[in-house]
Amino acid sequence: MERIDKLIVQMTLAEKIGQLMMTAADHAVTGPVLTPFSEDAIRSGAIGNLLNLYGAESTQRIQKIAVEESRLHIPLLLGYDALHGQRTTFPIPLAETGVFDPAVWEATARVAAEECAGDGLNMTFAPMLDVSRDPRWGRIAESPGEDPFVGSVFARAKIRGFQNGSLADARAVSACAKHFAAYGAVNAGREYAPTDMSEGMLHEAYLPPFRAAVEAGVAAIMPAFTDLNGIPLTAHVPLLRDYLRGELGFDGVLVSDYHAIAELLNHGVAADLAEAAALALKAGVDIDMMSDAYRLGLPQALERNLVTMDEIDACVRRVLLLKERLGLFDDPYRRGREGSGVTAQSRALARASAARSLVLLKNDGNVLPLAARKLALIGPLADAAGEMRGPWAGAGQPEDCISVLQGLTEAGLDLRHAPGVAIDEDDVSGIPAALELCADADMVLLCLGEAALMSGEAASRAHLGLPGRQQDLADAVFEKAQGKPVIVVLFSGRPLAVPRLVSQADAVLAAWFPGCEAGHAIADVLTGKISPSGRTPVSWPRAVGQIPIFFGMRPGGRPFNPDDYFTSHYSDVENTPLFPFGHGLSYGDFALSNLRIEPGDPLTVKLDVENRGAFAGEETLFLFLNQKKPGVTRPLLELKGFGKIALAPSERGTIALSLPRIEGRATLFVGPNAATDSLLSLSI
Ligand code: NOJ
Repeated sequence: MERIDKLIVQMTLAEKIGQLMMTAADHAVTGPVLTPFSEDAIRSGAIGNLLNLYGAESTQRIQKIAVEESRLHIPLLLGYDALHGQRTTFPIPLAETGVFDPAVWEATARVAAEECAGDGLNMTFAPMLDVSRDPRWGRIAESPGEDPFVGSVFARAKIRGFQNGSLADARAVSACAKHFAAYGAVNAGREYAPTDMSEGMLHEAYLPPFRAAVEAGVAAIMPAFTDLNGIPLTAHVPLLRDYLRGELGFDGVLVSDYHAIAELLNHGVAADLAEAAALALKAGVDIDMMSDAYRLGLPQALERNLVTMDEIDACVRRVLLLKERLGLFDDPYRRGREGSGVTAQSRALARASAARSLVLLKNDGNVLPLAARKLALIGPLADAAGEMRGPWAGAGQPEDCISVLQGLTEAGLDLRHAPGVAIDEDDVSGIPAALELCADADMVLLCLGEAALMSGEAASRAHLGLPGRQQDLADAVFEKAQGKPVIVVLFSGRPLAVPRLVSQADAVLAAWFPGCEAGHAIADVLTGKISPSGRTPVSWPRAVGQIPIFFGMRPGGRPFNPDDYFTSHYSDVENTPLFPFGHGLSYGDFALSNLRIEPGDPLTVKLDVENRGAFAGEETLFLFLNQKKPGVTRPLLELKGFGKIALAPSERGTIALSLPRIEGRATLFVGPNAATDSLLSLSI
């Protein structure tokens, strides 16, 4: 602290503001390029932090300018989005969540942190912790899905992985939990739109992952671009100052989202940059990412008494403290010495995590694992290595990715391939050539879905069907295949509303975007080398009109009763999702029995599992609770735990899940997904 206080005393206002600035370099474009960064600005101390620059040589060079050529020699924070890997691309977060194994969540973050550190970075803008119940919103791809309990476990695992127990570790980076809060509930799923929600829902569903992140010691938090009930999060005193800093005791750094402080003018809550800067600073936002509002607005805000020097100093102190905790004052070059790249080890983890993230949605007649050896491989995503990375792919390169075509060819399958159509174009002239392949194949494998950049930031969709003419291709293939099994491998950054495709196909494997080892992982699962075990962490709608659809709904006063017209239902679609939260098949076949509770605090809930199938597999079980509370309605199901068990054919085992003691009446449910007819229950 002494060092920091001494520094603050020496700093000019411009140097203080410089420490609160984070400007984008041009190694990646993750927002509008408004103020280009310059080395002179770093030399003069006007810019104290950068994003979107990576690679040992570049980061070391720029760090050297800050440390050796600026007056006060203060090192830079260097941040980048490594949502699902830096050089090695792991499955997108939504997919990886479906592994339901915190050890995997942590391990991939660990590798990402090591690769970021190798690239000279000391901060990553991850994990993204927005509970997401609206698949129209493209950023659902970056999220841990619909459930706050899952989001909280995910948050803890990711922060352990990124920060590795000590920020000073040269192979650790500071995590930045984002986007605080409720961004996942933007109106109608439209990116950057406002959010309106009750206090109750905010606390029940959207805040818990951030609370978990703070408890896990997250170094930084990014407020969302959006406004919540009329207050922009970038200037949200009740949530940033009172809740995060006050109630949760968060003393780390708040980094604004890209250009968000200047956008307070667009929100209509600030008349000029001085007001915008004052609003954000007073709410406790320490770093202005890319809006220049602190540089241009804070001097005036001081003059107009909108902020005090003490308030500016408090932000500067938090930023310098983070730099100190990262070990940057002791050795600013500690990260970036080793360089960074995909290794055999990181590939092995990418392959294993990708294989475990694939969700077998349907497998009629057990057409999978593949018995046939002669395959027609059709569709625009069969030979699309670069797309396998999905959105926000860090520094992952297309040439490091394995396509489905390559993966299946290496697995020894006899393949003929034609794309048929492009992902999102109107041209159907390639369909006849694709159909010809069906004639002498034993089976057809259709690789369909979205392009990587159809999800992620600024990628909301109002229609959730297959883009372009892919459904036409599928229709033609199903007609032509005439009884030959047709398996769909579906790529997407979100659940798609594709009931027609699902009913046509014999089997559907939701691959999401599996990352650089996609083709190998998909081949491992299709051929039966690995039994599928991924579970969807989000409900799949049958129709866009059902959205938001999630298992944690409240019952309402007229829950659906098929015999009573005046109960809650749609007249044109079922209430239930196409696939419920937790759904995912295995080549194993699991029978559940003997649900029981062992007393204690926490209680232990046990369930026996037997694999009656012919293949080994891994079963995942979820523990839900339904509580009755006087005066306040509770969700039908609240997730309280999950666990996994791997069993060989005929093997039996027991899953034990712990449950904190409950006050009052409750029913607990355990089962393989959130569909009520798949759950065993006990009253407690
Ligand atoms: C905008 C995104 O909302 C945020 O998630 C990201 O970290 C920044 N851009 C920087 O790339």
